Parts: sequence; structure tokens; C-alpha cells
Amino acid sequence: MSETKAAVAETRLISLGDEIVARINQLGAISETPEHLARIFLTAEHRVAAELILSWMREAGMSAHLDAIGNVCGRYEGERANLPCLMLGSHYDTVRDAGKWDGPLGLITAIACVADLNKRSKRLPFAIEVIGFADEEGVRFASTLLGSRAVAGTFVESVLNSRDRADVSMREAMLQFGLDPEHVGAAARARRELLAYVELHIEQGPVLEQKNLPVGVVTAIAGATRLAAHLTGMAGHAGTVPMALRRDALSGAAECIVAIEEFCKTDQAGLVGTVGYIDAMPGATNVIPGRVNFTIDIRAPTDGHRKLAVADIVRRIEAIAKRRNLTLQIDVTHENRTVPCASWLKTQVAEAVAAEGYDVFELPSGAGHDGMAMIDVADVAMIFVRCRGGISHHPDEHVELADAEAGARVLLRLVENFRPRD
Ligand code: GLV
Ligand code: MN
Ligand code: MN
Repeated sequence: MSETKAAVAETRLISLGDEIVARINQLGAISETPEHLARIFLTAEHRVAAELILSWMREAGMSAHLDAIGNVCGRYEGERANLPCLMLGSHYDTVRDAGKWDGPLGLITAIACVADLNKRSKRLPFAIEVIGFADEEGVRFASTLLGSRAVAGTFVESVLNSRDRADVSMREAMLQFGLDPEHVGAAARARRELLAYVELHIEQGPVLEQKNLPVGVVTAIAGATRLAAHLTGMAGHAGTVPMALRRDALSGAAECIVAIEEFCKTDQAGLVGTVGYIDAMPGATNVIPGRVNFTIDIRAPTDGHRKLAVADIVRRIEAIAKRRNLTLQIDVTHENRTVPCASWLKTQVAEAVAAEGYDVFELPSGAGHDGMAMIDVADVAMIFVRCRGGISHHPDEHVELADAEAGARVLLRLVENFRPRD
């Protein structure tokens, strides 16, 4: 490349990175409360964010709409209309007290890549679609990956009846958002319409930082199981019921939580278990807790290992409940197998990484991603971008501008050189 050409390319890409970071901050300001970022599925702020993303898509030369479950969808036509698409994307919902980058980085970078092609009037022999999935985190309705499951045609209608903590059903929330719960099926796409699904995402772990690399090629997305446990004992007076006669559901839950932690800690092969939510009722200082709900999230490098661990954990907490004379009900709210990234796509991601001058480094994803659902409708690949300290699901989540740029360069190169599977 001549020096002038290189300088032009450099300027273009640097401004891509600047714009990505500016938009991350803009989207990060759309939240339930200003102090703690929370943009939960089908809330008013979720809707405001959707409108902003749609405007960015249109500005980038895409036709854009909100689909039947609230995914934001943009389409950039190829050399002629109606060609199958390479689908890029990530999610725009967040956990509670979230960082700004988990989800939005992949979505905003994909839009930036299309904007760059559009500026150069460059059309490819396939269409590009960018999708912002509405619910990847599964914070509101226990079940998760609701946006991508709707696109993959695997959305389970009964989830519409599930209720959030304020007792609002998903059906009611969809109506409030302006969507028709009877038409979720309209979001489904056919396999023939999609050439592949590629997602760029922050790593959410410390490996790339440790390797001193800005980007990595993902090999597979680890499976996960989520359980909801309900313990029932007997509420009573905190001053009168002797300790030996109590059926305290919260003490029982505490023992279960420590047992889960101990079990996972003694595992030598990467098992992780988390109780991230607990709710004790009736919830007063002077009342023995009679009912407790808590969640359990279990992940492991292989599906076999995870399934055995889940069965073992359930046996252990059943034994604790029995010994304490508590009633236990456990529901599986989410279960996903490990999803491998397609080798033909990994090859192309690796070529793009190498062409940008970085070492090609492969790593698995311990976190869940929309690709876990998209695998049912398309082959999947992921690019990871380094994040500071490996911190994620936390307000300190951070990506350096140079790494956001590196991710954008790799994604853009991948898109421009993309070859559909033979
Ligand atoms: C999503 O971030 C998950 O891994 O739970
Ligand atoms: Mn997340
Ligand atoms: Mn994510």
C-alpha cells in the first residue's frame, strides 16, 4: 500500500474506533437509573435504546425495523436485492449494574463496519444484516436468549406466561412495549436466508490481557444450566420459637449456597457455580423466613461434566432440605449445550486476525452468547476483544479505544473477504 493510501485507511479506521466508543457511551447512558446501568428487556429504556440503534442503522445505509420480539434489525443489500445475508450482531439488553460494553460493542462495531462500506459505496456479493438481540441476559423472565431464540425459530411460547418480579407477564410486557405476543413467530428466519452468524464481543475474562493480544478467535461457547430453587419452611416469631423447633428456609438456603460453592471449588476441571439471586419471605427482622427463592447458574467446559455436576448439586441440596424438614422445588429455567464455532468460519476469522497483523490465538467462551441460539439456524463464529482486567457484568467493564479499533478492523476485513461455505 502507498503511504497516502495507508494514511487514508488509518484515518478511516481510527475514526471508526472513536465513533464506536462515543456510541458505547451514548447507549450506556440509556438506563433504568442514571447511577447503575440497567437496560432490561421490554422496559421503557430498552425501547429508547432500540430507537437510537435503529437510527444508527439507517444512518449507516441500512433499512431497519424492530422485529416481532423487539430485536433491532438492519439490512444492507448486496450487489443486488434479496441475496442471502451474512448476519452480524450482539445484544442490547444488560444485566443489573452492568458495564457498557457487554453486547453493545459487537452491535455498534457491526453498524460501524456497514457505515464504512456504505461511505465507500461498496456492495458485496451477499447482503449484510446487523441484529441487536433484545434479550440475551435473561434478567427479567428467568428464561434467556429470547431474542435470538425467536430468530432461530426455537422460542418457546409458554415463556410468554412467565412473570417478572413485579408480577408482570412477558405477554403484558410485550403489549406495553408495542409488540404483539401472538406474533413472536414472525421473527423466525429460515436457514437459507443466512450464510453465517458472526458476533464480536468483549472477552469478559482475563486471557487476552494475559496474552497481550487485542483480539482472539473463539472456539466454542460453553453450555450452561440455570435452576430456580424454592425452599419452604415455616414462618414464625423470632422471639418465641426455640432454635431446635424452627424450619428456617433462609438458613437452609444459606447451607445450600455454601454447599454449591464448596462442591464447585473442589472440582479440578473448570466447573463454576453461582447463586446470583435470593429472595426471602416474608422479609422482616423479627420473623423467621418461611419461604426462599434462589437461582443457581452452573457451567463447565463439557456438557457431560456440567450435567453430572447439576445432578450432584441437586442431590446435595435435596439432602439439606430433607434434614432441615424443608420442602424443596427445583425448576430448570434454562439449559444450553456447548456450541462449537464452525471451523470454516474460524479459518476466515483467523485469516482476518493475521492480516491485521495480530497473532492468531484461539480461546473458548465461558460466557453465554446469542450464538448458542443462532446455531439452530446458521453456522456461528465469534471474535473476542480484550477487556481490562477481564472484568465484566460490572460497571468497571472497559475496552481501550485501540482494542475497539482492532476489533473493528478484524470484523471489517472478515466481512469484506467473506466467502460463503461451498
Ligand atoms: C451472559 O452474559 C451469560 O453468560 O450469562
Ligand atoms: Mn452478559
Ligand atoms: Mn453479552
